[in-house]
Amino acid sequence: MIGETGNPVTITGLGCNVPERVLSNDELAQFVDTSDEWIRERTGIRQRHMASKEEALSDVSLPAARRALEQAGSDGSDIDLLIVATVTPDMAFPSTAAILADRLGCTHAAAYDLAAGCTGFVYALAQGYGMVAAGLSKRALVVGGDLLSRILDWDDRSTLVLFGDGAGAVVLEAAPEQGFLGFELGADGAGGENLWLPGSGSRLFDDAERYVKMNGREVFKFATRVLVQSAEDIMERCGVTIDDVDVYVPHQANVRIIDHATKKLGVPSEKVVVNVDRYGNTSSGSIPLALADGVADGRIKPGALVLMTGMGAGLTWGSALMRWTT
Ligand code: UT7
Repeated sequence: MIGETGNPVTITGLGCNVPERVLSNDELAQFVDTSDEWIRERTGIRQRHMASKEEALSDVSLPAARRALEQAGSDGSDIDLLIVATVTPDMAFPSTAAILADRLGCTHAAAYDLAAGCTGFVYALAQGYGMVAAGLSKRALVVGGDLLSRILDWDDRSTLVLFGDGAGAVVLEAAPEQGFLGFELGADGAGGENLWLPGSGSRLFDDAERYVKMNGREVFKFATRVLVQSAEDIMERCGVTIDDVDVYVPHQANVRIIDHATKKLGVPSEKVVVNVDRYGNTSSGSIPLALADGVADGRIKPGALVLMTGMGAGLTWGSALMRWTT
């Protein structure tokens, strides 16, 4: 799916949150046969945050959502649509969106979860955009977050070292000037078994299979291909070139994947937001956490053209191109 946007909609609030506990590479080396050196060289990751046993996704997302609402000058009762992009909801049902809606006082909101792997946040942005642009929603809260630490096999070094926990949230509203310029979203189910949680649903519900399994090399190849293709497709569709892009916000999975995409696209490194070293891959939390870092370091500011591209389980990918207005 690809398209330029119609009625103008923008982000009016952004908030993020990560659990307090920081887990170093050296600590992981106590569980599996790995080392700080290997993890840093092969992934760029130095540490990640991990939720405590008592924290579920709604707990980690709540402060992020509150910050986004505060920046937008809204409270829960102003929200009429709440989407949570995640593959690690508090439970299969009720949805984490419904739980969050209750905790935020969103008494007039439709609320549901959306699963598109690590691309979930970009998918949810596109969906929120569509609902607001069509006039169905006045003010949407889009949350992206995951606690992947909950579904990792702590004996599997090929996945354990890559992921971290975190969440981000944005408020979307109609605006006088266009924020979102276009979206490109895709999925390739044929590659689904390269990154999957086989024992977690109606096909199979089995404890032994309820952990992330990944063919890292295949996902690496897929990631380097789609990050470039999706970004090029959306830029072409919207009539912009890479030189017009002020800030590039790729999914934070592995610094080698980001470097590859950056080189192929021809983006100078000073335009690229990278925080995988501090957070690891936070799945649906990755892009909003990176947006927040880009805002904090002054690169994402009103007028900046921001290109975001995600990829992940499904296999899925997605890009959003937007003019930052907040
Ligand atoms: O949102 C999408 C999520 N997933 C991804 O983005 C993952 C994409 N894939 C990757 O990032 C990389 O493929 C990995 C980081 C997962 C692996 O890096 P790689 O350079 O592709 O390593 P490899 O799989 O080719 O393995 C090289 C060696 C192997 O040992 P041998 O067979 O050469 O003796 C692995 O067993 O590294 C070994 N290895 C490790 N060693 C220490 C694999 N994981 C580890 C580890 N610590 N954690």
